[in-house]
Amino acid sequence: MKLQLENIYNSAKSDIEKAQSISDIDEIRLKYLSRKGEFNSIKKGLKDLTDEEKRTVGAFANQITEDLEALLKAKHDAFYQKEMNEKLQKDRIDITLTGKSTPMGKIHPLTQTTNEIVTIFQNLGFSVVESGLSPEVETDYYNFDMLNVPKDHPARDVQDTFYAKLASNVVLRSQTSGAQIHVMENQKPPIKVIAPGRVYRNENVNARKNNFFHQIEGLYVDKDITFGDLKGVLNEFIRMYFGTSRPTRFRSSFFPFTEPSAEVDVQCIMCQGKGCRTCSGTGWLEVLGCGMVDVNVLRGVGIDPDVYSGFAFGMGVERLSMLKYAIDDIRLFFNNDKRFLEQFK
Ligand code: DAH
Repeated sequence: MKLQLENIYNSAKSDIEKAQSISDIDEIRLKYLSRKGEFNSIKKGLKDLTDEEKRTVGAFANQITEDLEALLKAKHDAFYQKEMNEKLQKDRIDITLTGKSTPMGKIHPLTQTTNEIVTIFQNLGFSVVESGLSPEVETDYYNFDMLNVPKDHPARDVQDTFYAKLASNVVLRSQTSGAQIHVMENQKPPIKVIAPGRVYRNENVNARKNNFFHQIEGLYVDKDITFGDLKGVLNEFIRMYFGTSRPTRFRSSFFPFTEPSAEVDVQCIMCQGKGCRTCSGTGWLEVLGCGMVDVNVLRGVGIDPDVYSGFAFGMGVERLSMLKYAIDDIRLFFNNDKRFLEQFK
C-alpha cells in the first residue's frame, strides 16, 4: 500500500511539474486530492491494515498529502503572480501621456454683442422687457397698424414681410418696434425699456443683409423727453460700445412711427470709409433708426401726447458686431463655422 501511495505521489509530482496554468493545477488537485481522488480511494484500504501499519502508512499518507498541497499551492501562487503581472503590464496606464482636452463651447458672438449692448443700456437706466411683451410671431396690428404704418405701405408687402400661414394677419415680425406697443399697453410712463430679439425679412441675402437678424429696440417715454435726450443717449451708447471714437453720422430719415426721425451710420471698419463690398461702396454702415415717438402712436395706446413725449430707437445687432470686430460678411454669424466662432473668447 505504501508503494501504491508512493507511485501516486510521484505521478502527482510530475503532473504538477508539467502544469502550465492555474486551471491545470485545479485539475491536478481534483484528480489526486479530492474526496473522489486517487489518494482517498487508496486511503479507504487503511481500515484493513493492522494498527501498527495504520499508524505508519497513515502518517506517510498524511505527509505526502501535505507535501502535494504545498507543491500545488506554490505552483498556483507562481501562476497567479505571473498572470497578475501580465495583466498589470497590459492594463498599464501611462500617466505621463498628455490628456485629451474636451473643447469648451463659447458664447456666440451675437449673444456676446447683445449682452454688451444690453449692459450699456442697463447702466443708462433702461430695463429689459419681459419676452412676453416682445413676441417673434406677431399680428400685423402690432407689427404695422399700431406703429402708424399705412395699410398700403410697401413694407407690408409679402415681398418684404414673411406672413405665417396661421392666419392672414400673422407675421414673423419684421422689426422689434412692436414691443413698444405691447409695453405701452401694459405700462404707464415713465417707461424706459429695451427689447432685444430676432426679426425676419424677405431680403435678397448679401454681405450686410440676411433674412433674419437681430435688433435691440429702445423706448423712453416720460414728461419733457426731447430730441436732445435721444442724441445724448445714442452718442453715449456709441462711445461706450466702441470704446474708441469712431466716425459716425446722424442723418435725418423717415419712419411712420417717429417724427422727426433719424438714422445713425458708422464708418465701415473694413475699408475705413473708402468703400468696399461690405458697405456696398458707400464707406458707411447704417446701424440704427430712431426718432421722437409719433403722436399717433402715443394716442393709439392711450398716452396723452400733450403730457408725455418719448424717443425710440431700433439698432441692428449684426451690423454693430461687424463694425466692432471687423466681420466683413453677415452670413458668417449663421454658418456655424468653428474657425469663425472660435475667434470670440
Ligand atoms: N424698426 C425700424 C427698422 O427696423 C428701426 C427703428 C426706427 C426703430 C425708428 C425705432 C425707431 O424704434 O424709432 O428699420
